[in-house]
Amino acid sequence: MSSSSEIGSGSSVSSSPRSPVGGPSGVGARISGTGVALPEHRLTNRELESLMETSDEWIVQRTGIRERRRMSSAGDERATELAARAVESALTRAGRSPSDLDFMLVGTVSAEMVCPSTACRVIDRIGANGAAAMDVSAACCGFVYSLNLAYAQVRLGLAKCVAVAGVDTLTETMEYTTRGRGTAILFGDGAGAAIVEATGEPDRGLIAQKMHADGSMWRHLYIPRDPRDYPEGQSEAELPLGLMRMNGREVFRFAVKTFSDLIEETLSEAGVGVEEVSHFVCHQSNLRILQAARERFGLPEEKLYVNIDRYGNTSAASVPICLHELHASGRIKDGQLVMFVAFGGGMTWASSLWRV
Ligand code: ACO
Repeated sequence: MSSSSEIGSGSSVSSSPRSPVGGPSGVGARISGTGVALPEHRLTNRELESLMETSDEWIVQRTGIRERRRMSSAGDERATELAARAVESALTRAGRSPSDLDFMLVGTVSAEMVCPSTACRVIDRIGANGAAAMDVSAACCGFVYSLNLAYAQVRLGLAKCVAVAGVDTLTETMEYTTRGRGTAILFGDGAGAAIVEATGEPDRGLIAQKMHADGSMWRHLYIPRDPRDYPEGQSEAELPLGLMRMNGREVFRFAVKTFSDLIEETLSEAGVGVEEVSHFVCHQSNLRILQAARERFGLPEEKLYVNIDRYGNTSAASVPICLHELHASGRIKDGQLVMFVAFGGGMTWASSLWRV
């Protein structure tokens, strides 16, 4: 296997104040390759101006988004195809082939069918049949939840090579009219993936994780399929079935507090200071939410990566797309501490702190 494409490759792992969690001694886990896949079409703020009453200035000021990708309504560019392309690219960068996979985890709320899972269709598409495969439905937290599950499988010696993908195509749940503008401006489509592998270097791996949900808050962000899905006081008359409903102000309030609390909780669990973490790889939902976290922890810009201006909120794909861009540009270095952070519908929130 090629080691040059591994995250944190190039020199030995520095000693850690805390050892990776669990499992037989002598086994670590590493992220050995990453990949992304994005639809061709760039839906710019200018194009949105022609579809609804909004402006580039309003969108940039309130969200930091300039454009997002949108799959075409016809053709092959759907969740399975995007996830398969991202996983193939991650496998290539890891120097692995589809037949090496023991497990395929796909974080998504955009499965094309209720059954089978996106993950089953992905392994079929890439030629990895025989591996275990399942979707993880945790909205924008789908990738981080899956990454934590992948680590446990590898670290316990139950799997050697796991592909973790995050894919969402939520533009198909948007209404591109003035009525839908509160959500339509935010979301974009995409996929990202990472390969998690067993390694003989026990210092590498997950240092701490946090995974939470509060189901009592589900009505702040949901996509109804049946008239019975509506909470009291809401109905099909306001927005048809199949389209996302979001209470933007409530989600915003929740996100600003949760993001920072989650970072603090994870640092405390790991017993490390904020200054020891080299990269915060965060869900991209709104630039103002990211800036609030930067301010609370006094983080310099280079420690909290932002690409929301180019892709908008890609839900479960957001964290692995950031990870891939940091990896591909060589910004993640050997032995660094990297924290993944996300929140999403459910409501769900999750983190994963790694020594890479
Ligand atoms: N263009 C112009 N005006 C708009 C637009 C738009 N696209 N959308 C709303 N407005 C108007 C509203 O109608 C309102 O007008 P009014 O005062 O006359 O009633 C005004 O702008 C202010 O609306 P707010 O909703 O208060 O605007 P806010 O500053 O809260 O920004 C936003 C809205 C961007 C949606 C913000 O609330 C947000 O980002 N929330 C978090 C969303 C999020 O992160 N969701 C995903 C999380 S989970 C997941 O990723 C699946």
